[in-house]
Amino acid sequence: MNLILLGPPGAGKGTQAEVLRQKLNIPSISTGMLLRNAIEQGTQLGKEAEGYIAKGNLVPDTLVVDLLKERISQSDTKNGFILDGFPRNRAQAEQLDTICSIDKVLSLEVSDADIIKRLSGRRVCNSCGASYHTVYKPSKKEMVCDNCGAALSIREDDKEETVLNRLNVYHSQTEPIKEYYQLRGKLYLAYGQEEVADTTKEVLRVLGLE
Ligand code: AP5
Repeated sequence: MNLILLGPPGAGKGTQAEVLRQKLNIPSISTGMLLRNAIEQGTQLGKEAEGYIAKGNLVPDTLVVDLLKERISQSDTKNGFILDGFPRNRAQAEQLDTICSIDKVLSLEVSDADIIKRLSGRRVCNSCGASYHTVYKPSKKEMVCDNCGAALSIREDDKEETVLNRLNVYHSQTEPIKEYYQLRGKLYLAYGQEEVADTTKEVLRVLGLE
């Protein structure tokens, strides 16, 4: 299955992508994570992307589309993939349709007020990519990753003013592509719940994967 996860920043795309990755045994691909890796490695792409991410703006399509194309051409995607954070505007959705065929698009619906609460408590592992929340999904040991034991950190773009801009960018550029997929009969909506496990149940139910 080729699946897209849509939703505002902090909706839980990465959290649910990890569950679906294990259940479906297909890779989950986060363009945000690929870009952050490029920044950490100091590549040319990372240097070009850094300023956009720090401000909460979208990285130019040409950079992200090439990155995505390269990633989905790898052999581990032969049985399908989960896209987390791509496409993010109509131009990217149209480009994606020229590269592959998408089966389902799941939009995680969460209010702006809940997003702000969630992102202020998020802690991430830069080593294995796991994501935690100080209240909703705490790591067993404070600021230490349960999976790999590396130190957890706060994402640079989770500062409140950057989060507010990411929400604006989502509503103006990404949310309209729900209609693009609805018109093609591919859109499924799941309402984010207070608890991660309850959202997972809802996601699996909506996708017919229970
Ligand atoms: P990206 O890394 O994709 O960030 P994002 O879309 O803003 O989403 P997040 O990773 O912040 O959140 P998420 O929905 O995965 O939530 P999570 O599971 O972590 O992109 C970053 C930047 O890269 C962009 O701003 C842009 O600049 C650039 N970029 C990326 N892709 C691009 C593209 N295609 N084109 C152009 N630019 C691009 O959950 C959040 C928190 O909530 C966690 O702490 C989690 O534990 C908690 N949580 C999750 N679910 C629940 C629940 N049900 N109840 C309570 N807490 C929950």
